[in-house]
Amino acid sequence: MHKLNDFISKEALDQALAEKVSQILQAAITLKGRASIAVSGGSTPKGFFAVLSNKDIDWKKVTITLADERWVDINDDASNTRLVHENLLQNKAASAKFFHLKQGENLCEETLADLNLAANSSLLPLDVLILGMGEDGHTASLFPCSEQIKQGLDINNEKALMKVEPKTAPHHRITFSFAALKQSKNTFLHVCGANKKQVLDKALSANDVFEMPIRAFLQDTDIDTQIFWAE
Ligand code: 6PG
Repeated sequence: MHKLNDFISKEALDQALAEKVSQILQAAITLKGRASIAVSGGSTPKGFFAVLSNKDIDWKKVTITLADERWVDINDDASNTRLVHENLLQNKAASAKFFHLKQGENLCEETLADLNLAANSSLLPLDVLILGMGEDGHTASLFPCSEQIKQGLDINNEKALMKVEPKTAPHHRITFSFAALKQSKNTFLHVCGANKKQVLDKALSANDVFEMPIRAFLQDTDIDTQIFWAE
């Protein structure tokens, strides 16, 4: 299920989302001594990252990771890891830990196995998941065009992390699976602009998850997806 929260501006959205997320993270730290959050890449979250990075929480007990990553070097303009380091791991949040999805040179089975072990022991289930959405209805790197989408959306998929080779986007990627992401304690979908609202309305108007993978998060009754949208 889902709830739409719309805001008068992107700035108002960024402030509200950062405040909500920081409260959740601090509550998790108070409860269990640590917190984990997966954020998404792309152009939408930069303002949110900047506001969140200045929130006064116990950042050294927070582990930040990505919902997905392009398999490129951190110095590459396409790197989500670079985006997060330059925009979120700054200011007060500079003391947070970062769980790298892009490790080593080759995204091979052995690398995936090591990453899955590490993610399951130190990261999952996430306290906070921030999803974005592409105009094709993909989220994380769960792309409708990819041959891996069936496995990616399979709720019985035991692999938290998997390799994806989208046909309509550059780079092969590593992504958390739907099965892993749906365990998150708090799920937010962060979308901005009129185009994305049209995509969201289309996603909400039907239920074929393989056509628009974001639907898996919007219609699953175990997930309370909080949609944060501004024009
Ligand atoms: C990525 C993201 C992806 C992103 C959407 C929206 O690696 O590209 O994880 O899922 O959130 O494509 O991107 P924009 O914010 O740029 O529209």
